[in-house]
Amino acid sequence: MNAPVMQGLSLNTPSYVKNARLIAWVADMAALCKPDQIVWCDGSDDEYARLCQQLVDAGTMKRLDPVKRPNSFLACSDPSDVARVEDRTFICSEKQEDAGPTNNWKAPAEMRATLQPLFDGCMRGRTMYVVPFSMGPLGSPIAHIGIELTDSAYVAVNMKLMTRMGKPVFDVLGADGEFVPCVHTVGAPLAQGETDQTGWPCNPTTKYIVHYPETREIWSYGSGYGGNALLGKKCFALRIASTMGRKEGWLAEHMLILGVTNPQGKKYHVAAAFPSACGKTNFAMLIPPKGFEGWQVTTIGDDIAWIKPGQDGRLYAINPEAGYFGVAPGTNQQSNPNCMASLEKDVIFTNVALTDDGDVWWEGMGEAPAHAIDWQGKDWTPQVAKETGAKAAHPNARFTVAATNNPALDSAWDDPAGVAIDAFIFGGRRSTTVPLVTEARNWTEGVYMAATMGSETTAAAFGAQGVVRRDPFAMLPFTGYNMSDYFQHWLDVGGKLEAQGAKLPAIYCVNWFRKDEAGKFVWPGFGENMRVLKWMIDRLEGQAGQGSEHAFGLSPNFEDIHWQGLDFSAEQYRTVTHIDHAAWIKELELHAELFTQLKHHLPRELEETKAQIEKRLAAA
Ligand code: GTP
Ligand code: SPV
Ligand code: MN
Repeated sequence: MNAPVMQGLSLNTPSYVKNARLIAWVADMAALCKPDQIVWCDGSDDEYARLCQQLVDAGTMKRLDPVKRPNSFLACSDPSDVARVEDRTFICSEKQEDAGPTNNWKAPAEMRATLQPLFDGCMRGRTMYVVPFSMGPLGSPIAHIGIELTDSAYVAVNMKLMTRMGKPVFDVLGADGEFVPCVHTVGAPLAQGETDQTGWPCNPTTKYIVHYPETREIWSYGSGYGGNALLGKKCFALRIASTMGRKEGWLAEHMLILGVTNPQGKKYHVAAAFPSACGKTNFAMLIPPKGFEGWQVTTIGDDIAWIKPGQDGRLYAINPEAGYFGVAPGTNQQSNPNCMASLEKDVIFTNVALTDDGDVWWEGMGEAPAHAIDWQGKDWTPQVAKETGAKAAHPNARFTVAATNNPALDSAWDDPAGVAIDAFIFGGRRSTTVPLVTEARNWTEGVYMAATMGSETTAAAFGAQGVVRRDPFAMLPFTGYNMSDYFQHWLDVGGKLEAQGAKLPAIYCVNWFRKDEAGKFVWPGFGENMRVLKWMIDRLEGQAGQGSEHAFGLSPNFEDIHWQGLDFSAEQYRTVTHIDHAAWIKELELHAELFTQLKHHLPRELEETKAQIEKRLAAA
């Protein structure tokens, strides 16, 4: 199979690659994209070191000080390429109704006709890397294989940290195994003899992040950043996997997974969905605060969960990823010490600032350096920042690091069987209205809470920031099919287990982000979120206090929370928990708007739940 694809271009297929469909596909894509050469990644440490050095030589990455930050790099992107591009993300199902009103849709044939000329010659002057990866433990029955073709070495090295990437994937794939084909190009072909001068090649004007759910393909054009380019993550593990899960009876979710062990040694597992840049990584790595001696929180995952019903009627979750692509700004020794420890070595930073001593800095990391080079390569000083508001790091600056760097990594993080989930948590970023924590009285009420969740938008996606939008299940940008069908799928998964006599996980809704009149967060958050987590566990054990029922669920009273070690008054507690009647009438209007948008296939149970809430609100 090493006959040239085109004149002068060899496929270079390693002898251990036996999958005919894969080889044929690589040949087809090479003929279309016309790279200068093809390199098959083996995932070795040598290869990683070689590609990193190549990226340093090309000016894409800088090597950080080997003493301060061993084996770590800084990449700075083009200012047009700093976050996911939701308005350029497409679900191309045959029927528009299968993508639903919350996704951009184009008919597959039309999209293929658009992409064909864009991909024709898109890798000219560049190398095509063949990146084999497994989402989930290698060879596990719940794992799935993807192959990403990319013309970005930055993507290849990030995939090494974020997934199980390399040669062993081909052994699992064998001669006729299944894989999800993922094609990625930065969309910046070079002319004959031209070398890249930009450091961060991308297409500043044309971007397409395209999914064909029926044929399980991903095509990404024009961006080199995060979820646009690391195709195992949002594109595969959420958008494509959610459509697979719908068909096969499981769930692919934008959730962290954590283990929490009490002083008696009893362990629970929780999966929590918060929208992008709303605290998943922080919660997954939580260190119990003062007053919680003997408690321990361990990380299974920080962004994505694949959840399957087990024989025993419980829901088992795995983290399909093997690394973290986390938000840097705001991360510090107080807010997330486990994360800071994870970042001591072997990290790729993207869009943070470079200090004069060859280390990194970002807003909210700690004391500012007297001088730094900001993420756009300009001089930065605290004085300049004060005068102009210039940020040293981009607000969506990120780190890429292997999960094995995390000191709080759960012993079961790599267990193909997954962990049994005891509770689901859903939480948005809301400065008003939504109380600190509410328990759903049943599965349907929980699905309603999750479906109607709102959150203020963040820098994780390109576009306006800080505006409240509905973000059902924190999956608005990630559900690969019709959102109403997705709600139905959640109801069906729960209903089926309940019919078997299973006890379903409890469902909670949280909000760490209520603000006072001065615009300051009232809830201390971060490690202190343990207090809310403990109340949930008390509830699971039937040990919690009375709590108070209200229109949309049950919330703890002040005295139901364990306050030892924190000075937080009943008045402050009221500020983060009280239910403003008028605000909730308005909130329900926004639920109504969402339901109007999602009318087609919207589950009747959700309409009924809404009517019950309205009735209770009117009676209150
Ligand atoms: P993605 O990786 O984008 O999916 O997001 P994530 O949910 O993992 O976000 P992450 O944990 O990195 O959240 C980052 C932002 O949330 C930072 O600005 C943090 O300061 C802020 N944050 C996290 N936890 C808390 C909290 O308990 N309270 C407050 N006020 N802010 C928090
Ligand atoms: C998110 O935006 O939810 C992320 C980062 O986790 S990215 O991988 O870029 O989508
Ligand atoms: Mn995410």
